[in-house]
Amino acid sequence: MRGFIHILENVFKYLILFLLKMICLGIESTAHTFGAGIVDSEKRVLANIKDSFTTEKGGIVPAKAADHHVEVCDKVINEALETAKLSIKDIDLISFSQAPGIGHCLRIGAFAARSLAMFHNIPIIGVNHCIAHLSIGEMLTGATDPVLLYASGANTQIIAYEGKKYRVFGESLDMGVGNFLDSFARYIGLGFPGGPKIYELALKGKKFIELPYSVKGMDVSFGGLLTNLKQKFDSGKYRVEDLCYSLQETVFAMLVEVSERAMAHCGKNELLLGGGVACNKRLQEMAKEMCKERSAKCFIPENEFLVDNGAMIAWQGILEYSAGKRMSIEESVILPYQRVDEVVVNWKD
Ligand code: ATP
Ligand code: FE2
Repeated sequence: MRGFIHILENVFKYLILFLLKMICLGIESTAHTFGAGIVDSEKRVLANIKDSFTTEKGGIVPAKAADHHVEVCDKVINEALETAKLSIKDIDLISFSQAPGIGHCLRIGAFAARSLAMFHNIPIIGVNHCIAHLSIGEMLTGATDPVLLYASGANTQIIAYEGKKYRVFGESLDMGVGNFLDSFARYIGLGFPGGPKIYELALKGKKFIELPYSVKGMDVSFGGLLTNLKQKFDSGKYRVEDLCYSLQETVFAMLVEVSERAMAHCGKNELLLGGGVACNKRLQEMAKEMCKERSAKCFIPENEFLVDNGAMIAWQGILEYSAGKRMSIEESVILPYQRVDEVVVNWKD
């Protein structure tokens, strides 16, 4: 009987969603990107606009990134509405990145979302950014139950849905892989973001240089590798192209190894990539190769959905709202340190 009621509830939920054709504006601001995406409940991405804080020297200074977000937030949101050919009155739901991220930056997105929600009387919902990466990947690629290799600036995690929760099966014990790439790039004078520049140099690399390979159980770490690379660079004995090439081969092998073990552990045969570092063609190649060897599928969304973006926040908002989650303005506080397994998952069977 309970099973039958559950099925009825689900049918009812999807019927409501189908009839409502909800349109959601999603606001992203966990780190250096301020994004606004508009998605409807029929899985159409109507707009996905972003503006990212960049510097020639140094990394992300939280206060400066937040100033950037304050400066661009109006422009980005208006451009999203214009692209979607909608006015704010057409928006049925506003979602925002509530967690995790840099407090200074999260606060700007939450403030923008709250202001719009209160002024225009639109429901608001805060979502977890890491889970949003996974959900938009599923929505766009058709993956149904993947292991997510989430490789971005601040985050490096292997996430999968198990036992009614999203769980982290492996992660970086120190910095995120993107921060590692950016730190080395900064050290050798390439500026920020460094990932794409390291990739270009790596293409010209010929010689593999042995580097510390740091996988500990299901986790990885990059601190020792960074020190080692800096020493090698300072010694002047190595071509920078060879260092970049060897760096990529080493860190991506580490990431692919732990992803494969998480897939084996969970008995899942889908791998999904997410995060800015996943734009890297060499990482994509290695991930595909691993999946091919174990007859698994590898799903890679387009770059605009791999990096931080508003569309994924909008889609996550639709999923949670249509499954019954509601949030008051008082509850819409930022949660910079929330982990994925703290999220109550109400939108999956
Ligand atoms: P999060 O809040 O999820 O940690 P983030 O602010 O780090 O996000 P992302 O856009 O997901 O933002 O990722 C940015 C990172 O991706 C940077 O470290 C950048 O160097 C890296 N990156 C971007 N393109 C490439 C590429 N082609 N190869 C390697 N790294 C890349
Ligand atoms: Fe991200």
